Amino acid sequence: MKLRPGEAALVAAAREARRLAYAPYSRFKVGVALLLNDGRVITGVNVENCSYGLTVCAERNAIAAAVSAGAKPGDVLAVAIVTKATAATSPCGACRQVLAEFCRPTTRIVLHNVADGATAPVTLASLLPRAFTPDNMPDR
Ligand code: THU
Repeated sequence: MKLRPGEAALVAAAREARRLAYAPYSRFKVGVALLLNDGRVITGVNVENCSYGLTVCAERNAIAAAVSAGAKPGDVLAVAIVTKATAATSPCGACRQVLAEFCRPTTRIVLHNVADGATAPVTLASLLPRAFTPDNMPDR
């Protein structure tokens, strides 16, 4: 799949953010950039802790930053996730669920690997089919 206009810039923003990841234990740095419906780009990185279980993934930190900047469910139009791995890396299951709350099923998630430049655009729905979302809670 080819990248759409703006997605290369989103990957560049995630690459730049990744440099700031705090990952002294795994040495696996992750950078994420989100495009909001108002055009703003919000970034996030993984933040590890010496109490290992307190680590927070880059995707969830990016979503937290977006919410702090005013984002609401459905406002995330595109996502770039950058790692340095053997292949373009998919987000973990927990992060897929958190992304689903603020993305749309059609939101493009561009997976990019700085080691070999591999880039794989997928959709949120392909990563998390039949997601449990706010729409499943009509009485909320
Ligand atoms: N990590 C992320 O930031 N996102 C994911 O989706 C998978 C894992 C981070 C957590 C930890 O800091 C490191 O990658 C290794 O698991």
